[in-house]
Amino acid sequence: MPQRQIKFSFLAEPVDVNFGGKVHGGAAMKWIDQVAYACACAWSGEYSITVYVGGIRFLAPIKIGELVELEAKVIYTGKTSMHIAVDVYAKKIKAATRTKTTHCIIVFVAVDHDNNAVEVPKWIPQTAADKTLEKYAINLMERRKEIDQTMKPFIEN
Ligand SMILES: CC(C)(COP(=O)(O)OP(=O)(O)OC[C@H]1O[C@@H](n2cnc3c(N)ncnc32)[C@H](O)[C@@H]1OP(=O)(O)O)[C@@H](O)C(=O)NCCC(=O)NCCS
Repeated sequence: MPQRQIKFSFLAEPVDVNFGGKVHGGAAMKWIDQVAYACACAWSGEYSITVYVGGIRFLAPIKIGELVELEAKVIYTGKTSMHIAVDVYAKKIKAATRTKTTHCIIVFVAVDHDNNAVEVPKWIPQTAADKTLEKYAINLMERRKEIDQTMKPFIEN
């Protein structure tokens, strides 16, 4: 079984600051992409690229100096795609509990040297919790078809 999940932990640094003195949304999005990239490459054993990021909701701000923890795990695989759930947490360095600041699903596709999509190992959920997560990914995929249709006129060149 390939590695299914990965965690990043680090301190939010002054370079991550926005104009309001907290962590920039763009910095958080970069971390999400990076942890999901590491997760997708570990699962597929291939170079992988982001094909879709959806529904990022910033629930709470992250402050500079806080300990940031990102947890990424594969929750659904198609033929070439990997749907990865990412949760972002933050806490003051001496605090006992952490706060969830963001959650999103990000989809990666494994590609070869010519940028052709290649097959990935199948993730087969075993536990009730993992089966629920797989259903969640499939539900979002169905809803995304409607969103894609709505966005189509604005996406085409
Ligand atoms: C990823 C890429 C190679 C796929 O190209 P493609 O082979 O023509 O795409 P396909 O239509 O065959 O789709 C490949 C997979 O992506 C999935 N996919 C396509 N659009 C999707 C969307 N909107 N949401 C989720 N998954 C999507 C497909 O379902 C398919 O998965 P599956 O094989 O598991 O069923 C191509 O779209 C690409 O290069 N995109 C740019 C990626 C990139 O540069 N990312 C960094 C952004 S800066």
